[in-house]
Amino acid sequence: MPTVFADVDTGVDDAFALAYLLASPDVDLVGIASTAGNTGVQQVCRNNLALLELCGATGIPVSVGSALPLSIPLRTAEDTHGPTGLGYAELPAPTTQPSGFDAAEAWISAAHAHPGELIGLATGPMTNLALALRADPELPRLLRRLVIMGGSFEYRGNTTPVSEWNIAVDPEAAAEVFAAFGAQSGALPLVCGLNVTESIMATPQILARLADAAGSPTTEMSPQDVRGTRSTATNPLIRVLEDAMRFYFEFHFDQGEGYLAHLHDPFAAAVALDPSLVRTRSATVDVELHGTLTRGMTVADFGAHWNRPPNAAIVVGGTPQQSAPLADVFFERYIARVAPFARRLAS
Ligand code: RIB
Ligand code: CA
Repeated sequence: MPTVFADVDTGVDDAFALAYLLASPDVDLVGIASTAGNTGVQQVCRNNLALLELCGATGIPVSVGSALPLSIPLRTAEDTHGPTGLGYAELPAPTTQPSGFDAAEAWISAAHAHPGELIGLATGPMTNLALALRADPELPRLLRRLVIMGGSFEYRGNTTPVSEWNIAVDPEAAAEVFAAFGAQSGALPLVCGLNVTESIMATPQILARLADAAGSPTTEMSPQDVRGTRSTATNPLIRVLEDAMRFYFEFHFDQGEGYLAHLHDPFAAAVALDPSLVRTRSATVDVELHGTLTRGMTVADFGAHWNRPPNAAIVVGGTPQQSAPLADVFFERYIARVAPFARRLAS
Protein backbone atom coordinates (compact mmCIF):
# COMPACT_ATOMS: atom_id res chain seq x y z
CA MET A 1 0.00 0.00 0.00
CA PRO A 2 1.76 3.22 -1.15
CA THR A 3 1.85 5.76 1.69
CA VAL A 4 1.84 9.27 0.24
CA PHE A 5 2.33 12.81 1.55
CA ALA A 6 1.35 15.53 -0.94
CA ASP A 7 2.62 19.11 -0.77
CA VAL A 8 0.44 21.20 -3.09
CA ASP A 9 -0.40 24.77 -4.06
CA THR A 10 -3.96 23.90 -5.13
CA GLY A 11 -4.33 25.14 -8.06
CA VAL A 12 -6.28 23.58 -10.87
CA ASP A 13 -3.83 20.85 -11.77
CA ASP A 14 -3.00 20.22 -8.10
CA ALA A 15 -6.71 19.46 -7.65
CA PHE A 16 -6.57 16.99 -10.53
CA ALA A 17 -3.54 15.41 -8.83
CA LEU A 18 -5.35 15.10 -5.48
CA ALA A 19 -8.34 13.52 -7.25
CA TYR A 20 -5.96 10.98 -8.81
CA LEU A 21 -4.38 10.12 -5.45
CA LEU A 22 -7.78 9.81 -3.75
CA ALA A 23 -9.07 7.66 -6.61
CA SER A 24 -6.06 5.35 -6.70
CA PRO A 25 -6.86 2.07 -5.03
CA ASP A 26 -4.81 1.15 -1.96
CA VAL A 27 -3.09 4.54 -1.75
CA ASP A 28 -2.84 5.76 1.84
CA LEU A 29 -2.72 9.57 1.56
CA VAL A 30 -1.50 10.36 5.08
CA GLY A 31 -1.26 14.14 4.79
CA ILE A 32 -1.56 17.19 2.59
CA ALA A 33 0.63 20.26 3.04
CA SER A 34 -0.76 23.56 1.80
CA THR A 35 1.92 25.69 0.15
CA ALA A 36 1.55 29.26 -1.10
CA GLY A 37 1.96 29.52 -4.84
CA ASN A 38 -0.92 29.50 -7.30
CA THR A 39 -2.83 31.36 -4.63
CA GLY A 40 -2.28 32.39 -1.02
CA VAL A 41 -1.65 29.69 1.57
CA GLN A 42 -4.98 30.08 3.40
CA GLN A 43 -6.86 29.77 0.10
CA VAL A 44 -4.77 26.73 -0.85
CA CYS A 45 -5.73 25.20 2.51
CA ARG A 46 -9.44 25.99 1.95
CA ASN A 47 -9.22 24.42 -1.51
CA ASN A 48 -7.62 21.28 -0.08
CA LEU A 49 -10.18 20.94 2.73
CA ALA A 50 -13.12 21.60 0.39
CA LEU A 51 -11.86 19.10 -2.19
CA LEU A 52 -11.36 16.41 0.48
CA GLU A 53 -14.90 17.05 1.75
CA LEU A 54 -16.30 16.76 -1.78
CA CYS A 55 -14.44 13.46 -2.14
CA GLY A 56 -15.54 12.10 1.21
CA ALA A 57 -11.96 12.07 2.54
CA THR A 58 -12.12 14.52 5.45
CA GLY A 59 -10.00 12.23 7.66
CA ILE A 60 -6.79 13.24 5.85
CA PRO A 61 -4.92 15.93 7.84
CA VAL A 62 -4.29 19.19 5.97
CA SER A 63 -1.50 21.43 7.24
CA VAL A 64 -0.88 25.08 6.50
CA GLY A 65 2.56 26.13 5.36
CA SER A 66 4.49 29.35 5.30
CA ALA A 67 2.59 32.34 3.93
CA LEU A 68 5.75 33.50 2.15
CA PRO A 69 8.69 32.00 0.28
CA LEU A 70 11.94 31.68 2.25
CA SER A 71 13.33 35.07 1.43
CA ILE A 72 11.30 36.91 -1.22
CA PRO A 73 7.74 38.22 -1.49
CA LEU A 74 5.05 35.80 -2.65
CA ARG A 75 3.83 35.94 -6.21
CA THR A 76 0.60 34.15 -7.07
CA ALA A 77 -1.05 33.09 -10.34
CA GLU A 78 -4.68 34.08 -10.29
CA ASP A 79 -4.42 34.80 -14.03
CA THR A 80 -3.73 31.09 -14.59
CA HIS A 81 -5.73 29.36 -11.86
CA GLY A 82 -8.45 31.90 -11.14
CA PRO A 83 -9.21 34.13 -8.14
CA THR A 84 -9.61 31.19 -5.74
CA GLY A 85 -7.07 28.93 -7.41
CA LEU A 86 -9.72 26.52 -8.70
CA GLY A 87 -10.74 28.32 -11.87
CA TYR A 88 -14.51 28.71 -12.09
CA ALA A 89 -15.18 25.85 -9.68
CA GLU A 90 -17.33 26.85 -6.72
CA LEU A 91 -16.89 24.49 -3.82
CA PRO A 92 -18.93 24.80 -0.61
CA ALA A 93 -16.86 26.29 2.20
CA PRO A 94 -15.23 23.41 4.08
CA THR A 95 -16.74 22.41 7.43
CA THR A 96 -13.39 20.95 8.55
CA GLN A 97 -10.30 22.69 9.93
CA PRO A 98 -6.61 22.33 9.13
CA SER A 99 -4.62 20.00 11.38
CA GLY A 100 -2.95 22.64 13.55
CA PHE A 101 0.51 21.37 12.49
CA ASP A 102 2.45 23.58 10.12
CA ALA A 103 3.43 22.01 6.83
CA ALA A 104 7.12 21.52 7.65
CA GLU A 105 6.20 19.76 10.91
CA ALA A 106 3.69 17.66 8.99
CA TRP A 107 6.37 16.56 6.49
CA ILE A 108 8.65 15.52 9.36
CA SER A 109 6.04 13.72 11.43
CA ALA A 110 4.73 11.83 8.39
CA ALA A 111 8.26 10.71 7.46
CA HIS A 112 9.00 9.53 11.00
CA ALA A 113 5.63 7.79 11.27
CA HIS A 114 6.39 5.83 8.08
CA PRO A 115 10.21 5.47 8.02
CA GLY A 116 11.46 4.22 4.66
CA GLU A 117 7.90 3.95 3.35
CA LEU A 118 6.68 7.48 2.71
CA ILE A 119 6.35 8.70 -0.88
CA GLY A 120 6.62 12.48 -0.94
CA LEU A 121 5.02 14.44 -3.78
CA ALA A 122 5.69 18.15 -4.22
CA THR A 123 3.62 19.92 -6.85
CA GLY A 124 4.07 23.50 -5.72
CA PRO A 125 6.92 25.75 -4.63
CA MET A 126 9.28 23.92 -2.27
CA THR A 127 9.16 26.40 0.61
CA ASN A 128 7.78 23.98 3.20
CA LEU A 129 9.84 21.04 2.05
CA ALA A 130 12.95 23.19 2.42
CA LEU A 131 11.86 24.24 5.93
CA ALA A 132 11.29 20.58 6.81
CA LEU A 133 14.77 19.68 5.55
CA ARG A 134 16.31 22.50 7.60
CA ALA A 135 14.53 21.17 10.70
CA ASP A 136 15.30 17.52 10.02
CA PRO A 137 18.27 16.75 7.73
CA GLU A 138 17.40 13.07 8.12
CA LEU A 139 14.32 13.53 5.92
CA PRO A 140 15.91 12.40 2.61
CA ARG A 141 16.93 9.11 4.18
CA LEU A 142 13.49 8.58 5.70
CA LEU A 143 11.63 8.93 2.41
CA ARG A 144 11.05 5.90 0.18
CA ARG A 145 10.66 8.25 -2.79
CA LEU A 146 10.33 11.95 -3.52
CA VAL A 147 8.68 13.17 -6.72
CA ILE A 148 8.91 16.84 -7.58
CA MET A 149 6.90 18.66 -10.22
CA GLY A 150 9.24 21.51 -10.97
CA GLY A 151 11.98 22.88 -13.13
CA SER A 152 12.65 22.64 -16.82
CA PHE A 153 15.52 20.68 -18.35
CA GLU A 154 16.96 21.46 -21.77
CA TYR A 155 13.66 23.24 -22.33
CA ARG A 156 12.13 26.68 -21.81
CA GLY A 157 10.51 28.11 -18.72
CA ASN A 158 6.87 29.10 -18.25
CA THR A 159 7.36 31.94 -15.77
CA THR A 160 10.52 33.49 -17.19
CA PRO A 161 12.25 32.42 -20.39
CA VAL A 162 14.18 29.85 -18.36
CA SER A 163 12.32 29.34 -15.05
CA GLU A 164 9.37 27.12 -14.23
CA TRP A 165 6.68 28.43 -11.83
CA ASN A 166 7.28 26.19 -8.79
CA ILE A 167 10.97 27.10 -8.86
CA ALA A 168 10.43 30.76 -9.75
CA VAL A 169 8.15 31.37 -6.75
CA ASP A 170 10.85 30.22 -4.33
CA PRO A 171 14.22 29.57 -6.00
CA GLU A 172 16.09 29.54 -2.67
CA ALA A 173 13.85 26.76 -1.38
CA ALA A 174 14.34 24.71 -4.54
CA ALA A 175 18.11 25.13 -4.29
CA GLU A 176 18.06 23.92 -0.67
CA VAL A 177 15.94 20.90 -1.57
CA PHE A 178 18.18 19.80 -4.42
CA ALA A 179 21.27 20.37 -2.24
CA ALA A 180 19.83 18.06 0.44
CA PHE A 181 20.00 15.07 -1.90
CA GLY A 182 23.03 13.32 -3.32
CA ALA A 183 25.41 10.50 -2.55
CA GLN A 184 24.28 9.87 1.04
CA SER A 185 20.57 10.56 0.67
CA GLY A 186 19.19 7.25 -0.54
CA ALA A 187 16.85 7.44 -3.52
CA LEU A 188 17.29 10.49 -5.73
CA PRO A 189 14.21 12.67 -6.21
CA LEU A 190 12.33 12.04 -9.45
CA VAL A 191 11.93 15.44 -11.09
CA CYS A 192 9.08 16.07 -13.53
CA GLY A 193 9.95 19.24 -15.40
CA LEU A 194 8.16 21.12 -18.12
CA ASN A 195 10.27 19.24 -20.67
CA VAL A 196 7.89 16.32 -20.10
CA THR A 197 4.83 17.76 -18.32
CA GLU A 198 4.07 20.13 -21.19
CA SER A 199 3.47 17.05 -23.34
CA ILE A 200 0.66 15.96 -20.99
CA MET A 201 -2.04 18.03 -22.63
CA ALA A 202 -5.66 17.81 -21.50
CA THR A 203 -8.27 18.68 -24.11
CA PRO A 204 -12.06 19.09 -24.03
CA GLN A 205 -12.30 15.67 -25.66
CA ILE A 206 -10.33 14.07 -22.81
CA LEU A 207 -12.52 15.79 -20.21
CA ALA A 208 -15.59 14.52 -22.09
CA ARG A 209 -14.16 11.00 -22.02
CA LEU A 210 -13.69 11.31 -18.25
CA ALA A 211 -17.30 12.42 -17.74
CA ASP A 212 -18.61 9.67 -19.99
CA ALA A 213 -16.60 7.02 -18.14
CA ALA A 214 -18.00 8.40 -14.89
CA GLY A 215 -21.53 8.00 -16.25
CA SER A 216 -22.09 11.73 -16.12
CA PRO A 217 -23.83 13.57 -18.93
CA THR A 218 -21.99 16.79 -19.75
CA THR A 219 -21.43 19.32 -22.51
CA GLU A 220 -18.03 19.11 -24.17
CA MET A 221 -16.16 22.39 -23.67
CA SER A 222 -15.25 24.52 -26.67
CA PRO A 223 -13.26 27.70 -27.29
CA GLN A 224 -16.49 29.09 -28.77
CA ASP A 225 -18.24 28.83 -25.41
CA VAL A 226 -19.04 32.03 -23.55
CA ARG A 227 -16.23 32.60 -21.04
CA GLY A 228 -17.04 31.11 -17.69
CA THR A 229 -19.79 28.82 -18.95
CA ARG A 230 -20.46 26.39 -16.14
CA SER A 231 -20.32 22.63 -16.45
CA THR A 232 -23.57 20.77 -17.04
CA ALA A 233 -22.12 17.56 -15.61
CA THR A 234 -24.45 15.87 -13.14
CA ASN A 235 -21.57 14.25 -11.24
CA PRO A 236 -20.32 16.56 -8.45
CA LEU A 237 -16.60 15.78 -8.88
CA ILE A 238 -16.74 15.92 -12.67
CA ARG A 239 -18.53 19.27 -12.43
CA VAL A 240 -15.80 20.71 -10.19
CA LEU A 241 -13.01 19.36 -12.38
CA GLU A 242 -14.66 20.75 -15.52
CA ASP A 243 -15.31 24.19 -14.01
CA ALA A 244 -11.73 24.31 -12.76
CA MET A 245 -10.32 23.13 -16.07
CA ARG A 246 -12.29 25.58 -18.20
CA PHE A 247 -10.44 28.53 -16.63
CA TYR A 248 -7.15 26.72 -17.31
CA PHE A 249 -8.18 26.05 -20.95
CA GLU A 250 -9.04 29.73 -21.40
CA PHE A 251 -5.67 30.77 -19.94
CA HIS A 252 -3.69 28.51 -22.31
CA PHE A 253 -5.89 29.65 -25.23
CA ASP A 254 -5.11 33.28 -24.41
CA GLN A 255 -1.41 32.39 -24.30
CA GLY A 256 -1.73 31.14 -27.87
CA GLU A 257 -1.13 27.52 -26.84
CA GLY A 258 -4.57 26.29 -27.90
CA TYR A 259 -7.69 25.40 -25.94
CA LEU A 260 -5.87 22.85 -23.83
CA ALA A 261 -4.09 22.53 -20.50
CA HIS A 262 -0.83 21.00 -19.34
CA LEU A 263 -1.57 18.57 -16.50
CA HIS A 264 1.78 18.93 -14.75
CA ASP A 265 0.74 17.84 -11.25
CA PRO A 266 -1.46 14.80 -11.89
CA PHE A 267 1.32 13.48 -14.12
CA ALA A 268 3.77 13.86 -11.23
CA ALA A 269 1.26 12.08 -8.98
CA ALA A 270 1.07 9.19 -11.44
CA VAL A 271 4.88 8.98 -11.45
CA ALA A 272 4.90 9.06 -7.65
CA LEU A 273 2.66 5.97 -7.59
CA ASP A 274 4.40 4.22 -10.49
CA PRO A 275 7.90 5.38 -11.51
CA SER A 276 7.97 2.63 -14.16
CA LEU A 277 5.85 4.98 -16.27
CA VAL A 278 8.91 7.06 -17.13
CA ARG A 279 12.53 7.04 -18.22
CA THR A 280 14.96 9.18 -16.21
CA ARG A 281 18.51 10.52 -16.48
CA SER A 282 20.48 11.20 -13.33
CA ALA A 283 22.18 14.56 -13.03
CA THR A 284 23.39 17.11 -10.56
CA VAL A 285 20.77 19.85 -10.41
CA ASP A 286 21.26 23.28 -8.97
CA VAL A 287 19.20 26.45 -9.17
CA GLU A 288 20.48 29.76 -10.48
CA LEU A 289 19.86 32.35 -7.74
CA HIS A 290 21.89 35.36 -8.85
CA GLY A 291 21.54 35.58 -12.62
CA THR A 292 19.85 38.78 -13.71
CA LEU A 293 18.27 36.98 -16.67
CA THR A 294 18.39 33.39 -15.40
CA ARG A 295 17.32 33.52 -11.74
CA GLY A 296 15.14 30.50 -10.98
CA MET A 297 16.60 28.39 -13.77
CA THR A 298 17.15 24.72 -12.92
CA VAL A 299 20.56 23.81 -14.29
CA ALA A 300 21.27 20.10 -14.79
CA ASP A 301 24.84 18.85 -15.04
CA PHE A 302 24.49 15.58 -16.94
CA GLY A 303 28.23 15.42 -17.60
CA ALA A 304 29.86 15.65 -14.13
CA HIS A 305 31.38 19.04 -15.03
CA TRP A 306 30.88 20.24 -11.46
CA ASN A 307 32.40 17.10 -9.96
CA ARG A 308 29.39 16.84 -7.61
CA PRO A 309 27.39 13.62 -7.12
CA PRO A 310 24.04 13.33 -8.92
CA ASN A 311 21.15 14.58 -6.78
CA ALA A 312 18.19 14.08 -9.12
CA ALA A 313 16.65 11.59 -11.52
CA ILE A 314 15.25 13.82 -14.22
CA VAL A 315 12.19 12.46 -16.03
CA VAL A 316 12.92 12.56 -19.75
CA GLY A 317 9.99 10.66 -21.25
CA GLY A 318 8.09 7.40 -21.47
CA THR A 319 9.60 3.94 -21.75
CA PRO A 320 10.38 1.87 -24.85
CA GLN A 321 7.89 -0.76 -23.66
CA GLN A 322 4.96 1.69 -23.94
CA SER A 323 2.98 1.14 -27.14
CA ALA A 324 1.49 4.63 -27.06
CA PRO A 325 2.71 8.17 -26.37
CA LEU A 326 3.27 8.84 -22.67
CA ALA A 327 0.38 11.33 -22.55
CA ASP A 328 -2.04 8.70 -23.90
CA VAL A 329 -0.80 6.15 -21.35
CA PHE A 330 -1.26 8.72 -18.59
CA PHE A 331 -4.78 9.82 -19.56
CA GLU A 332 -5.92 6.22 -19.96
CA ARG A 333 -4.75 5.58 -16.40
CA TYR A 334 -6.19 8.84 -15.11
CA ILE A 335 -9.66 8.13 -16.53
CA ALA A 336 -9.54 4.48 -15.46
CA ARG A 337 -9.01 5.58 -11.85
CA VAL A 338 -10.88 8.85 -11.45
CA ALA A 339 -14.03 7.96 -13.40
CA PRO A 340 -15.09 5.02 -11.18
CA PHE A 341 -14.16 7.09 -8.12
CA ALA A 342 -16.37 9.96 -9.31
CA ARG A 343 -19.16 7.48 -10.10
CA ARG A 344 -18.97 6.06 -6.56
CA LEU A 345 -19.19 9.55 -5.10
CA ALA A 346 -22.46 10.11 -6.94
CA SER A 347 -23.99 6.78 -6.00
O1 RIB B 1 4.69 25.12 -13.76
C1 RIB B 1 3.61 24.30 -13.44
C2 RIB B 1 3.40 24.23 -11.98
O2 RIB B 1 3.12 25.52 -11.48
C3 RIB B 1 2.21 23.36 -11.56
O3 RIB B 1 2.49 22.77 -10.33
C4 RIB B 1 1.09 24.35 -11.43
O4 RIB B 1 0.12 23.96 -10.45
C5 RIB B 1 1.81 25.56 -10.90
O5 RIB B 1 1.92 25.43 -9.50
CA1 CA C 1 0.97 23.09 -8.46
